[in-house]
Amino acid sequence: MTALPIQDYTLLDDTEAEARIAAAREQLGDRLVILGHHYQRQEVFQFADFSGDSLKLSRQAADSSAEYIVFCGVHFMAEVADILSRPEQVSILPDLGAGCSMADMANLANVERAWRELLEVLEPDEQVTPVTYINSAADLKAFCGRHGGIVCTSSNAQRVLDWSFSRREKVLFFPDQHLGRNTGYDMGISLDEMVEWDFDQPMGGLTPDQIRKARVILWKGFCSVHQMFKPEHIDRFKERFPETKVISHPESSFEVCQKSDHVGSTEVIIRTVRDSEPGTRWLVGTELNLVNRLHEQFQHEGKSVHFMSPTVCMCSTMFRIDPQHLAWTLENLAEGNVVNRIKVPETEAEQARLALERMLEVSP
Ligand code: 13P
Ligand code: SF4
Repeated sequence: MTALPIQDYTLLDDTEAEARIAAAREQLGDRLVILGHHYQRQEVFQFADFSGDSLKLSRQAADSSAEYIVFCGVHFMAEVADILSRPEQVSILPDLGAGCSMADMANLANVERAWRELLEVLEPDEQVTPVTYINSAADLKAFCGRHGGIVCTSSNAQRVLDWSFSRREKVLFFPDQHLGRNTGYDMGISLDEMVEWDFDQPMGGLTPDQIRKARVILWKGFCSVHQMFKPEHIDRFKERFPETKVISHPESSFEVCQKSDHVGSTEVIIRTVRDSEPGTRWLVGTELNLVNRLHEQFQHEGKSVHFMSPTVCMCSTMFRIDPQHLAWTLENLAEGNVVNRIKVPETEAEQARLALERMLEVSP
């Protein structure tokens, strides 16, 4: 089939788009690999050659030999695929509007400003390890690479913090305050040793004394999806179904994670529900597409999997990857046109790779 202008794809219904995806994929064969994050909608997720959390998918990207890596996920994931793959491989994001609102809460200018301001109180390059959550732009990973820092994901944050504290006494953790706080607390760091850096305030809104005493400086970023979950959602659900097991993603608030039986990355959530006893009732604090898929997948074992919030909240940027954009991308590739390539500039990629490789070395 001949590739059309993008606006014509938006007129296709899902069935037509899916048929076009299947045909183009067949034509591209092993020149193509499609990676799909667990938050992708089912219509797209069904085409993933590999699915996973952000750690697993970065490894898949690094190990893949395909010429084209099409990332059904968000922008920072396609950047990581580009950084970790070989130079001749091409990383592609079917819709360039698929970003991550949390990743956007930290940028190089305000992280560099924070580093300069810390210099008024400490020697950051000797005393502070910068740790960026993988949900961040490539230039922040590069910042960590050149300042002796590291990247983490939600499945290796504790190992990454162990690595960081074995080198320097403090950590600057960005952009997600919740992952930083939840992980630090589990490692025995008290809440008053973790301070919040408000990136809109001079000196993060902290006094020199607060900075000197802190072990973890938490960037004031958050995920708009996971911040919707509240402890009272758990209480109300358990009033009706007291036997419920609760599992949450560590991007959820401290209070929600404290009330949960388990806390873990998307991959851990899937594994825990899968390995639970038949008949278990689950309340899950993570993105809706994954929760719905879990329910479908395990209902035949008598498990019921419920979404934590009474309000529907999906990751609207993950949702931008639809069958229409995937069909447009693959049909262009089949004709030899690369669309929506994600290419990180070489020097930035080199420095970011350092921080990512440090992470991969300490990960299980
Ligand atoms: P995972 O690393 O668990 O896949 O999480 C990525 C993410 O963006 C969660 O909101
Ligand atoms: Fe970003 Fe939150 Fe969406 Fe994950 S769920 S990609 S953190 S906005």
